[in-house]
Amino acid sequence: MIKISPSVLASDFSALGAEAARMQESGADYLHLDVMDGRFVPNITFGAPIIKSIRNKTQLVFDVHLMIDEPLKYIEDFAKAGADIITFHTESSSPAAETVEKIIDCGCKAGISVKPNTPVEQVFPLLDSLSMVLVMTVEPGFGGQSFMPETMDKIKALRRETERRGIDIDIQVDGGINEKTVETAAAAGANVFVAGSAVFGAADAAAAISRLRELAEAAK
Ligand code: DX5
Ligand code: ZN
Repeated sequence: MIKISPSVLASDFSALGAEAARMQESGADYLHLDVMDGRFVPNITFGAPIIKSIRNKTQLVFDVHLMIDEPLKYIEDFAKAGADIITFHTESSSPAAETVEKIIDCGCKAGISVKPNTPVEQVFPLLDSLSMVLVMTVEPGFGGQSFMPETMDKIKALRRETERRGIDIDIQVDGGINEKTVETAAAAGANVFVAGSAVFGAADAAAAISRLRELAEAAK
């Protein structure tokens, strides 16, 4: 099923609660919350208290993308703050299996993300426990970058593997997703689309979300 997850990185941070509510009214499925620690990536955003502060502003699924060095230490905080899906990076320093287990124990769905130069096969041993794999389509750290088409082979390989095993897993893409790139990612096998600039930068967010959904549906 196609899902659109607007990234708050491109939102008006001074009115984050209202922006979250606006995304729900605009027809989004998830709200993508980019957590950066200035160590795993060269940028700092926000942490669990900010997420907690907007939890009662919307019923959207909170899709928390942890770009932090030691995710295992903070899983409980993000779960308590109201995360529904917690995705961490395989390149981080926490042990992946233990981190996935912790996310599930805390009552959340677990996702693992791979940066553009990381082979997607790294997540294969844990696929059966995961709800989602996030294949980054830019180097993580900043919004507004250009989509890297060379990452599509990883989506195809991942889709082949999930079909071979007969497991139903979401494949998310994040970075540079817009009306020009969403079809390429959908055709490769992605079904959850993060979009920051393309949604928050649009004059009409609802129209932008439904257009992305339409294009993805037609290309899958
Ligand atoms: C980048 C973040 C993305 C970012 C996407 O490191 O993980 O979620 O906000 O922004 P756009 O859609 O503008 O590329
Ligand atoms: Zn993200």
